[in-house]
Amino acid sequence: MPPHVHLTLLASGSGSNAQVIWTHFAAHPVLRVGGVLTNKPDAGVIGKAEAAGIPWALIGSPADGPALVAQLAALGTDLVVLAGYLKRIPPEVVAAYTGRILNIHPSLLPHYGGKGMYGRRVHEAVLAAGEAETGLTIHLVDEQYDTGSILRQVRVPVLPHDTPDTLAQRVLREEHRHYAPTIAELAARLWPERLGTP
Ligand code: GRF
Repeated sequence: MPPHVHLTLLASGSGSNAQVIWTHFAAHPVLRVGGVLTNKPDAGVIGKAEAAGIPWALIGSPADGPALVAQLAALGTDLVVLAGYLKRIPPEVVAAYTGRILNIHPSLLPHYGGKGMYGRRVHEAVLAAGEAETGLTIHLVDEQYDTGSILRQVRVPVLPHDTPDTLAQRVLREEHRHYAPTIAELAARLWPERLGTP
């Protein structure tokens, strides 16, 4: 039996992506969600994690890189998955997990990304600009917001009567379809011996 690859999810919000990810990998022989870390004591992801029996913990000081590295190490983290995590990842964490931190962003980066461009604001800006399409981007994380190398982009149409909410829902549905398979692909590239790829 190959040793497990441990995923730690970081989330600040409702955690719908996190929930899809731990459900997707629940029966996976190698990939395992070992825990969820959140910076928000009232985040929706906490209730979802408890209901699913996924261990969770608070990140006391999100800007304290060494503390976050220690928290990730204590969970045996191999891969860090940001799922609606709104704080900057400190440089010490990027250094400790270079090429092993993923994020999902609800637009076609480099458009509608960067500091302050998250959640509903992204979809409001896309609608205000009269775009015909938007989408999602799954990328590696570096020390800036939304600038790391892109692993996957998926296009989503903007429809005539869209509101920020209807557009957000359409993009989120696609996030739920694509995030876990992209995580699995990256893990297969990083640990081919454990995931059985040549
Ligand atoms: C998603 O739209 C994701 O792209 C963004 O934050 C949202 C998180 O939603 N980074 P949820 O918490 O997974 O429901």
